[in-house]
Amino acid sequence: MELSRRTFSAIAGTAALGLSLGGSSAMCVAAAGVPTGPPPGTPGADGRTHRVDFDRYSMIVDGRRVVLWSGEMHPFRLPSPSLWRDVLHKLRAYGYNTVSVYVSWNYHSPAPGSYDFTGVRDLDLFLRTAAEAGLYVTLRPGPYINAEVDAGGFPGWLTATGGTARTADPTYLRHVDEWLTAVNRIAVRHLYTRGTGTIVLYQMENEYANHVTEATGRDYMAHLYRKVRADGIDVPLFHNDKGRNGDWAPGTFDTGGERGRWLYGFDGYPSPFQTPPDWGYFGPGGIEGGSTASPETPGLIAEFGGGWFDPWGGAEFGGKGYAESRRTRDAAYERRFYLTNLANGIKIHNVYMTFGGTSWGWLPAPAVYTSYDYGAALDEARQPTAKLVPMHQIGHLLQSFPDLAELDRAADVSVGAPEIRAYHLVSPDTGAHVYVLRNDSPTDAVAAVPLAGTTVQVPVPGRDARLLAAGISLGRWTLRHSTAQPMLRMTAGRQDIALFTGRTGEETETALESPNEPAVTVLEGTADWAYEGGVLRVRARLDGLTRIAVTDKTGAAPLLLLLADDAASVRLWPRATPSGPVLVHGPALLRTAALRGATAELTGDTVEEADLEVWAPRGVSEVVWNGAGVRTRGTRSGSLRAERRLPGAGAVRLPALAGWRRKDENPESAAGFDDSAWRTADLNTSFSTTPVPAGAPVLFADDYGFHYGDVWYRGRFEGATGAGSVSLSYVTGTQGLLMAWLDGRPLGTHRMPVPDTRTVRQATWKATATFPLAPGSRSLRENGPHVLSVLVRRMQHDQDGRANDSHKAGRGLVSVAFDGASPSVRWRIQGAAAPDPVRGPLNNGGLYGEREGWHLPGFHDHDWRPAPLPNAERRQGVVWYRTGFRLSVDPATDASIGLTLRDDPSRAYRVQIFLNGWNMGQYINDVGPQHTFVLPNGILNTRGDNTLALAVLSDGTTPSGPATAELTLLGRASGGVPVTRVDYPGPVR
Ligand code: GAL
Repeated sequence: MELSRRTFSAIAGTAALGLSLGGSSAMCVAAAGVPTGPPPGTPGADGRTHRVDFDRYSMIVDGRRVVLWSGEMHPFRLPSPSLWRDVLHKLRAYGYNTVSVYVSWNYHSPAPGSYDFTGVRDLDLFLRTAAEAGLYVTLRPGPYINAEVDAGGFPGWLTATGGTARTADPTYLRHVDEWLTAVNRIAVRHLYTRGTGTIVLYQMENEYANHVTEATGRDYMAHLYRKVRADGIDVPLFHNDKGRNGDWAPGTFDTGGERGRWLYGFDGYPSPFQTPPDWGYFGPGGIEGGSTASPETPGLIAEFGGGWFDPWGGAEFGGKGYAESRRTRDAAYERRFYLTNLANGIKIHNVYMTFGGTSWGWLPAPAVYTSYDYGAALDEARQPTAKLVPMHQIGHLLQSFPDLAELDRAADVSVGAPEIRAYHLVSPDTGAHVYVLRNDSPTDAVAAVPLAGTTVQVPVPGRDARLLAAGISLGRWTLRHSTAQPMLRMTAGRQDIALFTGRTGEETETALESPNEPAVTVLEGTADWAYEGGVLRVRARLDGLTRIAVTDKTGAAPLLLLLADDAASVRLWPRATPSGPVLVHGPALLRTAALRGATAELTGDTVEEADLEVWAPRGVSEVVWNGAGVRTRGTRSGSLRAERRLPGAGAVRLPALAGWRRKDENPESAAGFDDSAWRTADLNTSFSTTPVPAGAPVLFADDYGFHYGDVWYRGRFEGATGAGSVSLSYVTGTQGLLMAWLDGRPLGTHRMPVPDTRTVRQATWKATATFPLAPGSRSLRENGPHVLSVLVRRMQHDQDGRANDSHKAGRGLVSVAFDGASPSVRWRIQGAAAPDPVRGPLNNGGLYGEREGWHLPGFHDHDWRPAPLPNAERRQGVVWYRTGFRLSVDPATDASIGLTLRDDPSRAYRVQIFLNGWNMGQYINDVGPQHTFVLPNGILNTRGDNTLALAVLSDGTTPSGPATAELTLLGRASGGVPVTRVDYPGPVR
């Protein structure tokens, strides 16, 4: 620790800066009487009624401004309700105050009239947990959500109904009303207005751009509005406008005479390589200017890219893998783009995704594979990434400094560096000035920012950005300026604390107004200071945490000035409690903080050994960490510090997967298989958008009630002796395939191509697979009857982004034709059995093993033959592998575990992975790119037995795998949340 005192001249110019900085610019409009005092406390289900309003600047909750700094997560992409709490804790700790969630209709509705909100679908529990975590909620139940889920969230059964979706068609509206009734019944129980939850915003429809000018579109939106209000949703509503066209801005459709309760929202996914767009105050204005399309409502970005989704196939096919999404949209991207949004007046800012999760089972839309990691700030394995650092810094900044909720564009400033774009804003209420400085060039530059009478030199690294504030209050002190970015101010005990952040190694200057010369002590790190003309200037190079105590001569207003580099900033955890704010330093995560009498009860995580230090209100003298008392000592920083470091996470040992057994299936391909219980394909009309060939029966799986996963067909015919080939037309999502057998003998496998960079967005693939029959060959020498057995991996339904019923494109067989013969074929069809009541309709398709429960724990596989991996057999069809394994992870350790499959990529097979009966996704060995599948705790029994079952489809052209299957540790922490096992019923006997 160095205690030094030197005088230096300000970097440039020392002219006095008035206490009130700058005048309001011409654009400044007086605040509409909204107090900007401390932000509202942590939201919760507190039993009190609340007002949720907005004006043109921001949301106004209970009369106080609040910027919603929001992260998107999807409960349906984390099928373990206990872990929702983990993700929500992490959001809250890292500075988010809001979670935005889509609710996916298909996840909850296996059949018309049937709505299931139990188990992993327990929306009520999710909303309760969000309230307990202290987060506001933006609820987005569609009806259409897109979101890279099957049919964009529409239930499978809706693909086989009449009426054009996303229009005012009465058939469709009847279904929609049923869904909204079901979901809103839960939502109303969690409205912040009622004090029974924390929902403050609600989105209707999503990117509804195709019928904007048509009566059917306007009627549809008006219908949704009326319905949602009639269901009791009283918080502001909005729509998410794709492309920022001003679609569905206030006044563009009938909101039943209600005014001022409808917001204009839009989304954007700019390329990380473009200049960040101005979608607000600094934009071109008018309807294409983002929030300027609706000047009377606050800037609302319903989704802003926090990563990007990835297609099948890896780099050579346009997919890049999620590491690449995370690399191109890294922390500096977040600062450049999100600070630009804030400068543009965006006060409701949701990052899509913040935790992407897993499109398990048959959830993924054709565009994506199982992992929906998204390159998000929290990875699929729930691990924090470096992308949380800017979110943490900006999120806490917005919560600490209400000035930022109400800013006007101020006079442009020139900063003397052409590569730096400077945005200048001023608070009409407090006079504080805010600058966003963005360097779009690859090289570092320095902005010379003129602040009334002085110029401050602010370094801005290449392709990065920072926020600079001047004239903001730090409690009893006023900040003249700081070249470091403010993150926090709070009062703990007698002392004010102010925290500023930046990149390691940056030289910073922080100037405080001080009519008298204060006493300054450097408590940790290195800093210089000088006092001149009523201003204290502290200079420090950012390196870890620097602490400086500043006290006025009376000793009445001590200020602890903290300067943290990025790594240090994410070891500082502010938390509001009903008894006053707390700041915790040291651990890898703070989950909860409660003050009970003289005790601060804290829970959280460590990864490595960590310090524990706590600033708390006066009278707090004891600290409890994860339930255990911690001996502490008072420090000169005014904190309590643990005498011993907290231990890090213990080792996690994972067993090798051994003892595999295997069994071949597809008895359906055998000539004599009994299919008498299968459904006869006898329909001749379909609501599908794929035409049914004239005179042929409908063969699409959806028309027969089979909406997910594989589907089998058996066709009987006679009299095809002259046939030279058989052609099977079929239609699937991306990566579909078809296998055929004639009288039990394999005819071959046809696969849809891997999409290349041109066709990566093509969601529906049609092909005709032609298999030679060699006329006169034994197969068709006799008249018959013959049996064609066909397995179609139909993959998923297309989304309906353009509102043209594209989710109704057929899936399955279309038709059959013979070359040289024209027998009539009588088809039977079989898909998934009745949906698993616990795991839901998206868990299973129609493989024989699935229908017979081979994927389930408790299934008797003792007569299966032992099968060490790798397997070297060539066989067209389906083979299952099963094994069990036992884990004994220490209950105080949160281990995140995945399954990694690897093999020679030339081997043509794919695997459906079942853990304890839950379908954890699809691995395609020769397509990729995904090799590791996250196994969420809860579904994974971390303290006991587990059953793993792999259903392998191979085309018979190569040996089929898997070669190696192993458990992989994806992250570990001491702490975590209690995990309740997700139900995992075995076969019904
Ligand atoms: C948006 C859409 C989201 C999601 C996203 C891409 O346009 O609203 O649902 O599809 O694109 O991940």
